[in-house]
Amino acid sequence: MEKHVSEAGFSPEQIDTTRPHPARMYDYYLGGKDNYEADRDAAQRVLDALPELAVTARSNRDFMHRAVRTAVGSGIRQIIDIGTGIPTSPNTHEVARQVNPDVRVAYVDNDPIVSTYAGAKLTNSGNAGFVLADLKDPAGILDHPVTKELIDFGEPVALMLLAVMHFITDDEGAADIVRTMTERLPAGSYLILSHATADFKESDGFGKVEKVYNEESTASAQWRTKGEICAFFEGFDLLEPGVVQLPLWRPDGPVPTGADLAKHIGYGGVGVK
Ligand SMILES: C[S@@+](CC[C@H](N)C(=O)[O-])C[C@H]1O[C@@H](n2cnc3c(N)ncnc32)[C@H](O)[C@@H]1O
Repeated sequence: MEKHVSEAGFSPEQIDTTRPHPARMYDYYLGGKDNYEADRDAAQRVLDALPELAVTARSNRDFMHRAVRTAVGSGIRQIIDIGTGIPTSPNTHEVARQVNPDVRVAYVDNDPIVSTYAGAKLTNSGNAGFVLADLKDPAGILDHPVTKELIDFGEPVALMLLAVMHFITDDEGAADIVRTMTERLPAGSYLILSHATADFKESDGFGKVEKVYNEESTASAQWRTKGEICAFFEGFDLLEPGVVQLPLWRPDGPVPTGADLAKHIGYGGVGVK
């Protein structure tokens, strides 16, 4: 398959740098440099309210590595990674290709800045493409020409929704969106999902963080409980150990305990259709 070119076409002037964007705030939590003053200011206020989000962002990336290796190790050859974020090495295709070099990846994000990086860092190795689209329009993702060129819906697909569903509220139809995406996937497909939660800690920080996202950024945020997150896996059998706190999903190294474990305020899970 030929190399795919990002359809970005955005010049830096067209990117709104005055409003905090979740992708660039997340980049700041991870210690990245691809963020602007408005992002840094909002992200720092978030970290002041809930410092756990920095350690959770890192354990979320580690979960991604283990989950992708598991899916590709089980025979998955094609991946749709929605809300992929500003490239952070190793990216999904790099993790997947350590297991199988032929894996095809359709990256999706609604942030133009992710799109500007896609050509250089995500899609430059062939068999990968970028779709600038919004998860709130799932059909627009599934029917996009880049998705159709890369993904054969006659064969199992891994759908990745990592740290993105907490930016879609129930009022915006989160459950229906996931259902629309997963209905199209054939049996044997994987759903890899992670999500922030307020289950592990009592703090007024959760409300403060929600306020920053809801009132200032381009996306609203909603914390969900374990039960609410498990509901996204309707129609999927959860792989062991189920939906668990991020570091507890099939760890490949030492696992934090006690107060250290409580700092990881996110769940991850992998299901098979
Ligand atoms: C917290 S980052 C997660 C990045 C990566 N998936 C990870 O887990 O490391 C959330 C990403 O979702 C994207 N995002 C938020 N709302 C979205 C939407 N409605 N449609 C598509 N992408 C969205 C943001 O632009 C951002 O890049």
